[in-house]
Amino acid sequence: MKMAWCTDIHLDCVSTDGRKDFLEQIQRSEPEAVLITGDIATGTTISEELQWLATNVECPIYFVLGNHDFYHADFETVCQSVQNILQHHPRLHWLTHHDGLNVGASTFLLGVEGWGDARNGDFLATPVRLNDHQLIADLTGFERPVLQRKLQCLGQQYATQLQQKVETVLEEQPHLNEIVIATHVPPFPESAWYMGYSGAPDWIPDFTCKAIGDLLLTLADTYPDIHWTVLCGHGHHRGSVTMRSNLVVETGHAEYGAPSIERLVEWND
Ligand SMILES: [Fe+2]
Ligand SMILES: [Fe+2]
Repeated sequence: MKMAWCTDIHLDCVSTDGRKDFLEQIQRSEPEAVLITGDIATGTTISEELQWLATNVECPIYFVLGNHDFYHADFETVCQSVQNILQHHPRLHWLTHHDGLNVGASTFLLGVEGWGDARNGDFLATPVRLNDHQLIADLTGFERPVLQRKLQCLGQQYATQLQQKVETVLEEQPHLNEIVIATHVPPFPESAWYMGYSGAPDWIPDFTCKAIGDLLLTLADTYPDIHWTVLCGHGHHRGSVTMRSNLVVETGHAEYGAPSIERLVEWND
């Protein structure tokens, strides 16, 4: 299967011409599906932007959400409105609430959002302040130590969801060669890139999901015959890191206002 992987398309920041360019890129590449690793729009625009994608892209769209997809809203409202859109557009598939799919003869794709989970680096000392903690109702108005615990819980929830998905697929398909995980937040400091460097100490609390990273290391060590590929975004800077001989994390590039295909990913049938 040939998939056009895009990340952080932030459609709320894109002009009519930018949208046209994006759709033309997709059409030219003739993918069998589009994969988006989060930050599609905002909490108040995600429904209409998913509808726009479903109407204008002529193949199935698999996605996870990113932190921006909850801005100016709260988790429950966004989840409900996205679920509602899915009912009307069978081409849209939210990987977090999806079993995943075989994208190649022995390759399986699954996904969860992930969250900057305040476990790497020093969340209480960093001067970095994300808009998340002012623009997402569930994360607003807390002292830093309380907020840190909430973020840690979010990361753990997504890691638990991912673990359950992996266990289920390995029970059903024990002979897979590769599992591809689509997620928004890089799982390791080594995969949180900025201008060719990764792991900036002040940024990693909000730009890595350590709970998912820890799970991935365990999975890679427990299943050495499976290749684990992670596709993520969030930091808008590209990079690739090999964490184990069978675990690679690809972090995608993005530019506000100019959504693009990060890479055409192809797996053999
Ligand atoms: Fe983004
Ligand atoms: Fe993000």
